[in-house]
Amino acid sequence: MPTMENLPRMEFTNGSQNNKDMNKKDKIDLSVNFAGIKAPNPFWLASAPPTNSGYQIMKAFDAGWGGAVWKTLGMPTINVSSRYGSTNYGDTRMAGFSNIELITDRPLEDNLREMAEVKKYFPDHAVIASLMVDTRQEWEDIIKQVEDAGADGIELNFGCPHGMCERGMGSAVGQEPEVLKTIVEWVMEAANIPVITKLSPNITHITDPGLAAVHGKTDAISLINTVKSIVGIDLDSYAPYPVVDGKGTNGGYCGPAVKPIALHMLKDLMQHPEIKNTPISGIGGIETWRDVVEFILLGATSVQVCTAVMHYGFGIVREMEAGLINFMEDKGYTTIYDFAGKALPNVTDWKHLNLKSEVKAIINEDKCIGCGLCYIACDDGAHQAIALPTDGGRIPIIIEENCVGCNLCSLVCPVEECITMEKFDDGTEHETWHELTEQNRIPNTWNDDRAGGKGHYVPEPADALKNKRKDKSGTK
Ligand SMILES: Cc1cc2nc3c(=O)[nH]c(=O)nc-3n(C[C@H](O)[C@H](O)[C@H](O)COP(=O)(O)O)c2cc1C
Ligand code: SF4
Ligand code: SF4
Repeated sequence: MPTMENLPRMEFTNGSQNNKDMNKKDKIDLSVNFAGIKAPNPFWLASAPPTNSGYQIMKAFDAGWGGAVWKTLGMPTINVSSRYGSTNYGDTRMAGFSNIELITDRPLEDNLREMAEVKKYFPDHAVIASLMVDTRQEWEDIIKQVEDAGADGIELNFGCPHGMCERGMGSAVGQEPEVLKTIVEWVMEAANIPVITKLSPNITHITDPGLAAVHGKTDAISLINTVKSIVGIDLDSYAPYPVVDGKGTNGGYCGPAVKPIALHMLKDLMQHPEIKNTPISGIGGIETWRDVVEFILLGATSVQVCTAVMHYGFGIVREMEAGLINFMEDKGYTTIYDFAGKALPNVTDWKHLNLKSEVKAIINEDKCIGCGLCYIACDDGAHQAIALPTDGGRIPIIIEENCVGCNLCSLVCPVEECITMEKFDDGTEHETWHELTEQNRIPNTWNDDRAGGKGHYVPEPADALKNKRKDKSGTK
């Protein structure tokens, strides 16, 4: 859940400080011009249940959202009941979310009438019509209808991984770059407003459909749609969730769990020489201002949100906006274009990483609660570099020479900032696998002295049986 603790620190010392902060904030301009679609801010709702009706979109704009991609319009559908499933992880509900819903099942005329009404109330907000139809004629007809209703842009839904793909649409198109390109070309010929091509992540190389969209002359790209998935099996009916009368099907996965997939695909597109100049709207697991900033740092210039709104409601945009403004103020940015893509030069291939850089774990004894999780993780799952104290104390000890700096203990430690990874090299040496390969210096036998793990301590296999705890395991 987004919290105010996530926000960069704001210090108000007195009235004049307050005024100074207000002045700086006043200079921040969140407005975007995304491939010609203008919006007061980059926070947009993704095409999904929160954009199912004019009522919801007006409520969202009133709460602070700058744009909305209408729930996909297309051809008549019939939905099933039930429709959603989720991955609950520990105390976290909906860490991942799944649906087997289709495009809108509401009449097209109702959607168009409501779209026109929303534009009347909110002329400066972005209303984008998500579309999915079949034949060229159907594309031309529906484009004309949404343009007449006042839509500011069109988004092509080539991502739905259930139901619609069985009818030759959605991800069936997203997975076939040549077909995708042809449809984008049809749309570009027919449309008078900007066109965003929304990509499916259900493909090995996202640059294939990305490039096809660019070759079809799309104005912009958005990604990701949902990931083909099964979230679980009901242990009574033996059917996958969500269960529909004793049966189930693959769903589309989204929510916080898919953010890493979305960020990676965004980066792949933004680093492609032929795609990188096409504006990209980032989607997938966005919930907090920090998520928004991360997507922008990888090049997105608007973001879209579905699951987080389905979980917490439209109000989350307030935290997103406050957090984004504080971040920009802290870093001295006035528009999102000042930092869009700033992380891209730092995302490189593994072979270019510095093999001479060295970090090791340090435990802050004042913060440690002696839970032992770091010891178990390192001893069973990493490099036997943590010892338990033998003097009756509870604070584990890092065995410096064994620590390879893998991060695992710091990731499992339940206390914030208790285990930190500290730099141990002096920063003077730099050597990469790529350089070693170029210089013909890579280890090339199993026993090569230049191999990374050679000589690194591991306990003898039989040591595993020596220290069995009598209380739990008894003696052997
Ligand atoms: C219940 C549900 C229905 C959706 N319907 C559509 C849709 O009609 N058209 C579309 O392009 N994407 C649809 N999506 C995908 C979302 O727009 C979005 O791409 C995806 O959920 C990832 O974003 P999130 O992690 O913020 O949810 C739907 C997602 C959900 C959960
Ligand atoms: S960083 Fe890895 S190797 Fe080092 S102590 Fe932690 S878990 Fe062990
Ligand atoms: S996991 Fe963290 S809190 Fe628990 S023993 Fe290790 S250092 Fe201490």
